[in-house]
Amino acid sequence: MNAPKVGIIGGTNGMGRWLADLLAEAGCDVQVTGRKTEMTAAAAAAICKVVVVSVPIAATAEVIREVGPLLGPEQIFMDLTSLKKEPVELMLRHSRAEVVGCHPLFGPAVADPAGLNIVLCAGRGTAGFVWIKTLFEKAGYSVWERSPEEHDRLMAVIQGLNHLNTIALGLAVSASGIAPEDIARFATPVFKAKMELAGKVFGNNPGLYAEIIARNPDIEDMLKLYTQAVKNVGEALAEGGSDALRGLIESAAPALFTGRHGKGGA
Ligand SMILES: NC(=O)c1ccc[n+]([C@@H]2O[C@H](COP(=O)([O-])OP(=O)(O)OC[C@H]3O[C@@H](n4cnc5c(N)ncnc54)[C@H](OP(=O)(O)O)[C@@H]3O)[C@@H](O)[C@H]2O)c1
Repeated sequence: MNAPKVGIIGGTNGMGRWLADLLAEAGCDVQVTGRKTEMTAAAAAAICKVVVVSVPIAATAEVIREVGPLLGPEQIFMDLTSLKKEPVELMLRHSRAEVVGCHPLFGPAVADPAGLNIVLCAGRGTAGFVWIKTLFEKAGYSVWERSPEEHDRLMAVIQGLNHLNTIALGLAVSASGIAPEDIARFATPVFKAKMELAGKVFGNNPGLYAEIIARNPDIEDMLKLYTQAVKNVGEALAEGGSDALRGLIESAAPALFTGRHGKGGA
């Protein structure tokens, strides 16, 4: 398949725009739609070989249901959603097209693709899958194939648990009553780095993080693991102070890292 015409629903911004730029650079004719563009999703579906959905997670199911039935078996239906089980199932159910689920594991501002990973989920057919995999790899990204279930389980930890932790940190810091000016003035480098991460979740696009967490099918398990971990820390401190806490940290370390880790710092 050589430089097909691609329609990106939600291509005016964010990840859709990232893909639009990448595909245009690869020589594809790219049409983008948003809520205010002249080109509609239905019009893009009528003229494009490949149709990609990259709208906010809360709007994704509705867009797939609307566009899917307009696509024929010779077309390719793809999405960039941060979760994969539900959108891939919906693309399969509501269209006869080839289906490829895609999740770039990074945000839209890419300076250098080296070291950046993309997960692809094969839904139906092979031509679209091979085309987009080859295109991403040629551009310098690393591509990994996983089932939608495997992807969502991984993301329950890598995004769900991770962002839950950031939210819990932010809520606890906020409840501590310490003024933001004092937090900024007295922060150690480690705390500064953590508050910068918290700034992404609390400042930028809280809806994206809330959707990524709330819609992950495995999030309940992660929440249980997380609350149990906090409970274990509390119990260790109450029962054995620093020795018990150190024991808890040491017992978990081998399962966390592949090699030795650096010296501690506050
Ligand atoms: N941001 C990330 O770091 C990231 C990373 C990987 C994957 N993703 C996934 O990428 C997808 C898009 O997220 P994003 O962060 O790129 O979002 P975004 O920056 O808010 O962009 C969303 C795009 O969708 C359009 N849009 C919004 N609501 C729509 C609706 N109801 N119908 C049709 N178009 C609509 C917007 O255009 P108008 O505003 O012009 O209508 C815009 O072009 C999500 O599925 C997300 O999970 C995001």
